[in-house]
Amino acid sequence: MKILTVVGARPNFMKAAPIIAAIREHNGRPLAESADQPKRPAETIRHILVHTGQHYDALMSGSFFSDLNLPEPDIHLGAGSGSHAIQTAEIMKKFEEVLLAEKPDVVVVVGDVNSTLACALVTSKISFDSGGSRPVIAHVEAGLRSFDRSMPEEVNRIVTDHVSDLLFVTEESGLLNLSKEGVSPDKIHFVGNTMIDSLLHFKEKAEESTILERLALVRQARKNGGAKSITRYALLTLHRPSNVDNRDVFLNIMAGLEELATNYPVIFPVHPRTQRRIREFGFEFGLDGNAGKHNGNGQSSGNWRDGIILTDPLGYLDFLCLMKHAALVVTDSGGIQEETTILGTPCVTVRENTERPVTVKNGTNTIAGTKTETIKDGIRRQLGRRHENGVPKNWDGRAGARIIDILVLGHHGNAPSCPGAAALEDQYSCPQHH
Ligand code: UD1
Repeated sequence: MKILTVVGARPNFMKAAPIIAAIREHNGRPLAESADQPKRPAETIRHILVHTGQHYDALMSGSFFSDLNLPEPDIHLGAGSGSHAIQTAEIMKKFEEVLLAEKPDVVVVVGDVNSTLACALVTSKISFDSGGSRPVIAHVEAGLRSFDRSMPEEVNRIVTDHVSDLLFVTEESGLLNLSKEGVSPDKIHFVGNTMIDSLLHFKEKAEESTILERLALVRQARKNGGAKSITRYALLTLHRPSNVDNRDVFLNIMAGLEELATNYPVIFPVHPRTQRRIREFGFEFGLDGNAGKHNGNGQSSGNWRDGIILTDPLGYLDFLCLMKHAALVVTDSGGIQEETTILGTPCVTVRENTERPVTVKNGTNTIAGTKTETIKDGIRRQLGRRHENGVPKNWDGRAGARIIDILVLGHHGNAPSCPGAAALEDQYSCPQHH
């Protein structure tokens, strides 16, 4: 069996790594067992990793391969940046050649980025012979919906789900959404969350990161034998075009952080898109970091901008360490809402909606909107709240293994039939900011 996995942009790497690890584990098993043939030889999986090159910087891509023990990509498409049309088309043209040359049995696409859509679309229309044979398309992280089609990711999710043959769902809202859209339950498998597989696997290793020292967030007590303690800090990420591409919107969001930044250092690893906007808009803080201006006892030294510590994008383990120890995370990312849910770190999502409602229902997340006052309210609420985070169903570190078992054994879907899914409606409708 030949499986081809596509990665392209930063959030793909941690979602793909557990699938690749599960393939390694599968191939390492000498014998597989089945009811009728207890000792038949296991079918070896040949795996091909394709990197589209949507993200290409060392900081956005390269460092993740070493942090996550990912193998070097077998094929690099080198697609790079461009408008949505140019980027998607470039990936499609190059990926078609790869498919025709490699003829895999299965194409695995993950998440909701342009690379996901481009490769799913090409695979759905490829034909290896006159009978129209093509690979099975497996979409990992299927069924999530923000119901906001102005988000490029929402379009990518919907189209990818509807051209896929196997839909691997991370949370129960996905079952409901796919059922409402008429997707056959036979295609759907509720396997859990491979991004959380990565988090659980690397959580301990992330403790070895020196990022807290590098950002001067560790204090050595003079008393008590010099024990170290971590300064209370917040962590910020912003990269959604709807939040950073418009100067006024971006400024309103930053104003919403004012109170937070005068009380705690706010660590802000800045995505390349956001770095460009900060330069274009002429915002005052520099991009070379201003760690150390904080006086180290949880009080800012003055101007709120001094309380915001900018860094370049960080590697997976450094960022995981920062999320784990933060008093609060403020973000517009999808994946970070899930990761903070498992880490038990309060999260304020600077968006009007989320496609991941389980992070609000079971987790530590709140949807704060993008207005200055609503962000301030969200931050105050979250800082004052006692968090008892629940673990969403199947977020147990086994999603990658479940996916590979299903691909190898060819099981039918495990989604509840329509009445079962309908019963989820009250619980898992999409939380909006009001
Ligand atoms: C993409 C995804 C988004 C995901 C995000 C994570 C889509 C539609 N969006 O958004 O869902 O949350 O990745 O980062 O696929 N750039 C660099 N170096 C790089 C990559 C990009 O400098 O390695 C710059 C380029 O100038 C580029 C811009 O960042 O134009 C945006 O990159 P792009 O891949 O188009 O989208 P993201 O905003 O990163």
